[in-house]
Amino acid sequence: MFNSKIVGFESYLPKKVVTNDELSNIVETSDEWIYTRTGISKRCLSTQENTSDFAINVGKKLIEKSNIPAEDIDVIIVATITPDYLTPSTACMVQGAIGAKNALAFDINVACSGFVYGLSIADKFLKSGIYKNAIVIGAETLSKIVDWTDRSTCVLFGDGSGGAILTSCKDYNSVISEDLNADGMSWQAITGGNLNNNNPFTEKKDDNSFYLAMNGRDVFNFATKTVPKSINEVLIKANLTLDDIKYIVPHQANSRIVEVVAKKLKVSLDKFYLNLQNFGNTSAASIPIALAEMSQKGLLQKGDKIIIAGFGAGLTWASMIVQI
Ligand code: UT7
Repeated sequence: MFNSKIVGFESYLPKKVVTNDELSNIVETSDEWIYTRTGISKRCLSTQENTSDFAINVGKKLIEKSNIPAEDIDVIIVATITPDYLTPSTACMVQGAIGAKNALAFDINVACSGFVYGLSIADKFLKSGIYKNAIVIGAETLSKIVDWTDRSTCVLFGDGSGGAILTSCKDYNSVISEDLNADGMSWQAITGGNLNNNNPFTEKKDDNSFYLAMNGRDVFNFATKTVPKSINEVLIKANLTLDDIKYIVPHQANSRIVEVVAKKLKVSLDKFYLNLQNFGNTSAASIPIALAEMSQKGLLQKGDKIIIAGFGAGLTWASMIVQI
């Protein structure tokens, strides 16, 4: 019986940092509104690089730090809603750039739950016993689908990438329990990147739906309802309690969402790792960026159990207990 062991986390962020004050020169907003409503102070925005550049950098760092040769990587999964191209996949671009010539590679589109879904999929590949090493990356350039005239969304998002490298293992298990969900009835709550029909016979021509649109209130309510339930679900499945968990690493969307989740779980806010003040909401990249930062700070020690919890467009939500 094979399991997955996570052997490293890495991240890559674009150099340009944009503060709330700088955004107030672009749309009618203020540092005070953004910070008090979301907890965000600044975010990184891409001036040149695209999603594949971010993901390739993370892939290279994961290979370097783990000492697993690129040709020994069997699976590459990139979670993204902002790929460079509809085809090829970002994962294939990573595979080529890092020299992982023996790896299968594909993207998944699960928005802010993408990294948790990606880890779950990679875990199943490794559990099969057929594949030995896998890379899972969350990478986004949300700034390219954000409507920079819409203050209700453009202040929320950032660009960046993070990822994990996993190896199959008989005597260690990093994926302890998981809870993956979708509610396709509510897909209209968050939309972006609509590709309109465009042939010589098309009757209805384009609209504005390429840009990211969100019903913030509905998504807030959805997140505060589903995330505590999902966290309880993974605890029950693993026969553990929150006392066994060192950190909860939620999707970094809004600190007010996390406050409500903490209250519902009757757990201190200190148990949650938040870095959204520096990066904003980076969708599929937010959880692995946080994990890489925690790892760098020495907050994650071998054997620690943490919960990661994503939620977002689809609507989708996903939690997992991860043993470091
Ligand atoms: O990653 C996917 C998951 N997404 C999320 O988790 C997002 C969940 N939702 C949220 O985080 C919150 O709903 C938001 C941060 C998006 C919005 O916060 P809110 O407290 O729900 O504000 P609101 O949309 O109800 O807007 C309140 C007011 C409105 O003005 P009126 O109608 O009360 O006069 C908005 O027009 O704030 C106004 N407003 C702004 N004012 C200044 C909206 N955006 C801004 C802004 N600056 N950037």
